[in-house]
Amino acid sequence: MNQKILILDFGGQYKELISRMTRSLGVYSEIHSGRTSAVEIKKLAPAGIILTGGPNSVYAPNAPACDPAIFNLGIPVLGICYGMQLICHTLGGRVEACEIGEYGPIETRIDGGSALMRGVKSGSRLLMSHSDRVSKLSTEFRVIASTRDCPIAACENVERGLYGVQFHPETSHSDGGREIMRNFLFDICRVSGDYRLDDYIEKQIAAIRHRVGDKRILLGLSGGVDSSVCAALLSRAVGRQLTCVFVDHGLMRLGEGDEIEKIFSKKDMHFIRVDAEDRFLQKLKGVRSPERKRKIVGEEFVRVFEEEARKLGDKMFLAQGTIYPDIIESGGKLGDTIKSHHNVGGLPADLAFEGIVEPLAGLFKDEVRAVGRMLGLPATLVDRQPFPGPGLSIRVTGEVTRAKLDTLRRADNIVCEEINRLRRRPRQYFAVLADVRSVGVKGDHRTYDRVVAVRAVSTDDFMTCEYSSLTHKTLHRIASRITGEIKEISRVVYDITGKPPATVEWE
Ligand code: XMP
Repeated sequence: MNQKILILDFGGQYKELISRMTRSLGVYSEIHSGRTSAVEIKKLAPAGIILTGGPNSVYAPNAPACDPAIFNLGIPVLGICYGMQLICHTLGGRVEACEIGEYGPIETRIDGGSALMRGVKSGSRLLMSHSDRVSKLSTEFRVIASTRDCPIAACENVERGLYGVQFHPETSHSDGGREIMRNFLFDICRVSGDYRLDDYIEKQIAAIRHRVGDKRILLGLSGGVDSSVCAALLSRAVGRQLTCVFVDHGLMRLGEGDEIEKIFSKKDMHFIRVDAEDRFLQKLKGVRSPERKRKIVGEEFVRVFEEEARKLGDKMFLAQGTIYPDIIESGGKLGDTIKSHHNVGGLPADLAFEGIVEPLAGLFKDEVRAVGRMLGLPATLVDRQPFPGPGLSIRVTGEVTRAKLDTLRRADNIVCEEINRLRRRPRQYFAVLADVRSVGVKGDHRTYDRVVAVRAVSTDDFMTCEYSSLTHKTLHRIASRITGEIKEISRVVYDITGKPPATVEWE
């Protein structure tokens, strides 16, 4: 068992960052509800507790609160933002609306004598984002950091192991934030830092073998990062007891299906590639609505997978590439995964599985990629940019045909080749085949051909994005190669809208 830090969530937008930072420092952490009782926490036996930020005011009626008994467990607690206000409010201090709110990195005076702040320079800029502040501390606390507009920017009660910071040490915009987290974990919680991904792999392998015994496991492999890493891990655990079904819907990028087959057919597993292109194109015939396309591709995927599962016969385990953020977003808890994800994929109830195996359910995306690398998957697969489930069907705007898909694949390959040459690449980039024709001239001939749009975006979370500032040189190379190499294209445009008002995909 790894030593564990519990992160109690009060609706903070940075909760995952806190968890990722502790893990990147070698300390395992899990996110739980802010309402978790002291009795339950005691059973989980964490080495420390971190209370997250949140959008509420602690003094408002019905504001989320923690069980006050957690402060008497003898387990160190660090409250961040709302978490600090909660500690102070609960233990006799005062929290009020700020006269002047602080947003962004703010110069902070630091008391270097505090174990929490050790090694952080006074005057460091730490990220603030608050409209309430602690205005008075109870006598058992002392101030250990302040800013011009927030005299109590951090506090401590060393005897009881209680610490609060108004700023966000978990973000990369806080100078010294990592140091503060390290101090809390190693000097205050006294953890040893025993969390390592190679241990995670070994533990999962042992757990899968124990659970599955000599039964078989079935996994739907899409070629995305999560299902690919899941396949590699399961193959290492159970070898040919694993069957991977790769449904090739014909909506992949150039050469992608063959690449996936090449990688996985070499691994120790039973690999099935189902060529379902005709079936998907038949279903998509005449369909123009983006949402209908999404629905059709999703449903058809499940049907093909279901047919393969039935062919394989007797009962087996179903594996899924669920990762930790999927569980956090669905409001579930680690360990509850079998229940909350029971019906994923819309498989019919009579297709009974022995159980569900989700070996990546404890990992964040960056950890999944790291595990993939450790398992020997190539960078082309592990560092893949996101690719939508409905594939190229939503990048051919309007009706999808085989010919249009072929044209798009070639254009998209040129976009990727040119952008892959750059040192700094956008987070996502691709070509779209627009449902318009445009007049052009090639040689001495008038043309009336298709238009390709190039999309390249930078984003942290894909909820919003900005278009990437590709240089004119790059854009020029892309446009001249596409129009020169692909007969069907006479015009290339670059999409310079952000999200909002646009979305990343065109459909
Ligand atoms: P949008 O277009 O919503 O895209 O701004 C945000 C991110 O989500 C991806 N995306 C999808 N992924 N199924 C998926 O699995 C979909 O239907 C889908 N639509 C968009 C998109 O590629 C981008 O990374």
